[in-house]
Amino acid sequence: MSATANPNPTPSASGPSGQIPAPVRRLTVSDIARLHFDGQRIAMITAYDYPVARLLDEAGIPLLLVGDSLGRVILGYENEIPVSMEDMLHHAKAVVRGARSALVVGDMPFLSYSTPELAVHNAGRFLAEAGVQAVKLEGGRRSARMIEAITRAGIPLMGHIGLTPQAINQIGKVRVQGKTREAARELLADAVAIQEAGAFAVVLELVPEQLAAAISERLQIPTIGIGAGAGCGGQVQVLTDLLGYEEWHPRHARPYANLRETILSAARAYRADVEAGTFPGPAETVRMDDDVIDAVLGHSVLDRPSRSIPAGGIPLDRDL
Ligand code: KIV
Repeated sequence: MSATANPNPTPSASGPSGQIPAPVRRLTVSDIARLHFDGQRIAMITAYDYPVARLLDEAGIPLLLVGDSLGRVILGYENEIPVSMEDMLHHAKAVVRGARSALVVGDMPFLSYSTPELAVHNAGRFLAEAGVQAVKLEGGRRSARMIEAITRAGIPLMGHIGLTPQAINQIGKVRVQGKTREAARELLADAVAIQEAGAFAVVLELVPEQLAAAISERLQIPTIGIGAGAGCGGQVQVLTDLLGYEEWHPRHARPYANLRETILSAARAYRADVEAGTFPGPAETVRMDDDVIDAVLGHSVLDRPSRSIPAGGIPLDRDL
């Protein structure tokens, strides 16, 4: 993040006495516009819970998306369609509590913006109830009326075109969009319509590199690509792809960690320790004064077999 756009340039900054930490300021859509104007590429990651949002925020990720990919990657649904407003609000609240300086975007779920009135109502719930700073919805010209209604209500909005997962039943399967002359023209027109309707950014998902770059050049607002090449104003990745939760990941993703192996080996080591009786050990255990426990149990010092649990565990017939 460039020094000019970062509202929190000194993490441990202090007041005049050097004692009081400077309050952390949250990024706004104006900061995002300034980053883009300054030529800085913008990193966005999806987030679904409090602890991860804290870490992504600490890492300086400026945009967090509480994506409706929640349904697939966290809730175990086949696709995004079953995700409800209540699911989204629940997870968005946790992300907002975890992120202090990132701008948090709430993804409007399937059928939550099918009319301008409904769109404003649900976008408003995201801001008022969950505390996000912006919302995202899918569709270009077909969603322009809803985008306009939301932005006119004072709610910052991010568009999303290319592969739009909520339309999977129309699209048929996950595949690159905009490859034909007609489809490319449609996407270009959709991108312009989103900007004109007042959006502050637009996600381009699974779009050929040259088309994404051409759209990015023609827009003033940043394009945020996922599977759309390096010519976009920024990039977004789904957290679980980025962290390597699964053996498989989409072609456009680059796993920056292998959490699948990390979690598996931690869980296996823990299970082995529990089964061997080596967890918890002295470092993870609290003892009380032996005189107190003797008094409670009516025992004397002579009844104390040892100061620790026998290696084979406590005999089941032992009178405690
Ligand atoms: O829900 C999501 O994760 C998304 C990203 C793929 C942009 O919409």
